[in-house]
Amino acid sequence: MSAGTPTGEDTQPSARTLVIIPTYNERDNLPLIIGRLHTALPDVHVLVVDDGSPDGTGSLADELAATDSAGRIQVMHRTEKNGLGAAYIAGFRWGLARDYTVLVEMDADGSHAPEQLHRLLEKIDAGADLVLGSRYVPGGTVVNWPKHREWLSRGGNIYSRLALGVKIQDITGGYRAYRREVLEALDLAAVESHGYCFQVDLAWRAINHGFVVSEVPITFTERELGESKMSGGIVREALLKVTGWGVRHRVAKVRELLGRS
Ligand code: GDD
Ligand code: MN
Repeated sequence: MSAGTPTGEDTQPSARTLVIIPTYNERDNLPLIIGRLHTALPDVHVLVVDDGSPDGTGSLADELAATDSAGRIQVMHRTEKNGLGAAYIAGFRWGLARDYTVLVEMDADGSHAPEQLHRLLEKIDAGADLVLGSRYVPGGTVVNWPKHREWLSRGGNIYSRLALGVKIQDITGGYRAYRREVLEALDLAAVESHGYCFQVDLAWRAINHGFVVSEVPITFTERELGESKMSGGIVREALLKVTGWGVRHRVAKVRELLGRS
């Protein structure tokens, strides 16, 4: 992983990794997560995408960037809270405009352990195009989640598997690593998902493009500081969108069978 080491490791995709951390009111969490990340993997770069957090997360991120003598931290300031999907797409575009070869999604609140990022990156280096950190494959776990959140998440995954006909166990999760070619191939401008269904949306697009999508087990630990931004609107959007994608996919298949694609 070391950017300066003259070994074959430099030629691995993960040698140029950008970790994108979207934030909305994560002042207490941000220094902790970036500190843990750079302790675990000192060479990765970080892009914080802040949606004008009223609690000052954006200016704290600027301070962290200014004091990182290695220059590994960048901050994107957006003026409106526009949802997780829009924040990530802006972050992806930023990373694709530079020479990063792997782009990672990570929550700011400590739910995604930076100490496990190597699992995702190793899978990418072994040839996967998109690696999903998965709570629901053997070895994956959820710690401290209220039962209703776990059932919502498990239910969302079961519903997505049935509606879309995919085998993935944790398609709603938000800890993942993309090879840059995946994001270059997807039409990011066409992504309309605002909330957390953005995660399903991108995995579904990657699968339909024929990319290799793999899962590795992770431990998801509920945040100790700050609040979740999950809402009823996010759940409703996910239900509607996933249903729509599934129906469209099946209609397209039937058309194909009838030979009038
Ligand atoms: N910039 C920005 N804009 N960041 C946001 C927004 C937004 O509108 N909404 C949420 N975030 C950031 C939070 O600050 C946090 O860093 C991360 O996105 C995840 O938000 P949480 O509110 O902590 O999500 P959660 O713990 O309820 O949900 C987790 O599980 C979902 C279900 O698996 C996340 O991992 C989701 O990505 C995942 O879909
Ligand atoms: Mn969270």
